[in-house]
Amino acid sequence: MTASPTLPFEPVSATDLSLLAERLLAIVRKTPSKPVEWNLLEKKLKVERAIIRDAALVLADWDYRISIRISTGITFHSAPDLLTEIELSHELKTTFVGRQLHCYRLTRSTNDLAAEFAEGGAADGTVITAEEQSAGKGRLGRSWYSPAGTGIYLSILLRPAIKPERAPGISVMTALALARTLESYTPGDVTIKWPNDVLIGGRKVAGILTELSADRNAINYLIVGVGLNVNHGVGNFPTELRSSATSLRRVLKRKLHRVTIARQFLLQFEREYLRYLQHDLSTVRKELRSYSSLLGKEITLISGEHRQQGRVVDFDSSGCLVLQQGTRRVSIAAGEVTVVKS
Ligand code: BTN
Repeated sequence: MTASPTLPFEPVSATDLSLLAERLLAIVRKTPSKPVEWNLLEKKLKVERAIIRDAALVLADWDYRISIRISTGITFHSAPDLLTEIELSHELKTTFVGRQLHCYRLTRSTNDLAAEFAEGGAADGTVITAEEQSAGKGRLGRSWYSPAGTGIYLSILLRPAIKPERAPGISVMTALALARTLESYTPGDVTIKWPNDVLIGGRKVAGILTELSADRNAINYLIVGVGLNVNHGVGNFPTELRSSATSLRRVLKRKLHRVTIARQFLLQFEREYLRYLQHDLSTVRKELRSYSSLLGKEITLISGEHRQQGRVVDFDSSGCLVLQQGTRRVSIAAGEVTVVKS
């Protein structure tokens, strides 16, 4: 019986190859458009050329633009605009938000998934994203339109050591973080419709759904779900949303890089959230007023069975809307607003 030939190297499993692909990516993306020589890659990755080439093919499968040349080595050209763990964590500047990331191609709702992770003990700041949601949830039992590859759908799991009554302020603070993120793309056009719709040119571009698990005195966990319309074309919106919703692409007439925007938002979110834990909204009230689409307007507000009317005169440091009703002022923590007149 002849002995089977000894392989020159151990066979590489699919998982090993994926890990190798990630390590290869980390090396080649440091010098975009410039080849990294085979010798250097072999030295750094400690595997032979043929395996490195297989890893590069894995990257191509993941939609990275890579060229592989026998003469020069491997060149990184560009990364796909996909909300993946690798892309989101690349140059993410946060300290805890998004340090644990779970990215999905398709899920029913990232908020539901985040709640499952929370129940399973996932860490404060864990972020769940999806390229598409089949049952995206909006506020007040509505749905959130979540087509594939166009929007940002993400949920942030938080475990703040604060009283449950401070939770509504986190939605308002999230709207502020979103407004700031969008401001750099469409300066002067971003407004916040209290408590947490973000508008560009008067149309809704982003929504926030905050869900809470708490007992009377303490928050167990909180899920902040954010839906942001980025690359939806006008025709992408269902007819009933066309006049009320917009996307960054619709406003700017060009496609935008979702991963960059998601990273920028997570950083803004973390900063604002840490500030909120320390100071509530006291340090950003002026900014909130300047972003408000409601300040000075006569509105009707419905919360549960309750309906009231008044003029919006302020926002307090816990995120409540302050209404002037004749000679008295009332603060309201939550509700659905309709503008009566300007
Ligand atoms: C609203 O304005 O009605 C809130 C919309 C919130 C949508 C986001 S998309 C990501 C997260 N997962 C969900 O199911 N909903 C939120």
